[in-house]
Amino acid sequence: MKIFVDTAELDEIKEANSWGILDGVTTNPSLIKKAVRKRENIDMEEYIKEICRVVDGPVSLEVIGLTRDEMVAQGELLYEKFNPVNDNVVVKIPINTSSPKSTGGEYEGLKALKDLSSKGIPTNTTLIMKPEQALLAAKAGTRYVSPFAGRIDDFIRNNVGLTRGEDYPKSAYHNADWLRHASYLKLKPRYEELEGNDLAGIYFDEEVNRVKESISDEGIYTGAAAVSSINQIFSNYNFDTEVLAASLRNSRQVREVAEAGADVSTIPFHVLKEMIDHYKTEQGIISFSEDVVSEYEGIFR
Ligand code: E4P
Repeated sequence: MKIFVDTAELDEIKEANSWGILDGVTTNPSLIKKAVRKRENIDMEEYIKEICRVVDGPVSLEVIGLTRDEMVAQGELLYEKFNPVNDNVVVKIPINTSSPKSTGGEYEGLKALKDLSSKGIPTNTTLIMKPEQALLAAKAGTRYVSPFAGRIDDFIRNNVGLTRGEDYPKSAYHNADWLRHASYLKLKPRYEELEGNDLAGIYFDEEVNRVKESISDEGIYTGAAAVSSINQIFSNYNFDTEVLAASLRNSRQVREVAEAGADVSTIPFHVLKEMIDHYKTEQGIISFSEDVVSEYEGIFR
């Protein structure tokens, strides 16, 4: 699995690169906003060029337009401006820019993807929330699809009445088995009312189906499961498009998307550090250091 760092923070990119494990970078307007807020009078073009220079691997830069024409023009501009620096620019296009607030056309993301792919400009399709979107993006010729695992998990937790920031922190691990068990416990009295052996009654019972539906997002129980489904679909039809697991919030989620066969994970810098840290490793290094005897130390002199 390739590892990208999900940040626009140059110091983090440089540090991750120095570890020798970095294959690329993903940015988005929110990550750029964070980097800009930390600096005064940033030279944005020079800053982005420096990111491209530092990393020998794809750097995703996102468009900000909402119509096909805007996105294609911006994608071309990003590619012309920054690709010459290190030949590594990938243009990030939202799968869909239609929303209750949008103007200027529907389903523009998919059209822009097709146009840019036909021009030979590599794209990373962002804001993928379900496998069907990934399938369409792959058909439009995108190089990467970015399923937002963490946001999918948030949506499911929200469905069951949990609010991020109030009930759980952004970094919390989402455990689908726990949710299934909780839904079983919640429904136990109803199952008993319906009598355990009346399977047809349980099958059609509205309350049972409402609770069961609420613990998934259209049959997807975790962000990692969405990654697994997309991976399966792509391998069924031999798509070249790579599955780039995004919106990763903790190291266990990285483990799960790696198990699911993600081609790439884009990982926030603090999660990369979390992947390395373990208290037993810390204890181990302390005791190894304490056990060094002078006879052994001598061979290093
Ligand atoms: C990556 O390409 C995405 O922009 C990013 O992973 C989103 O992560 P978030 O859901 O934590 O904002």
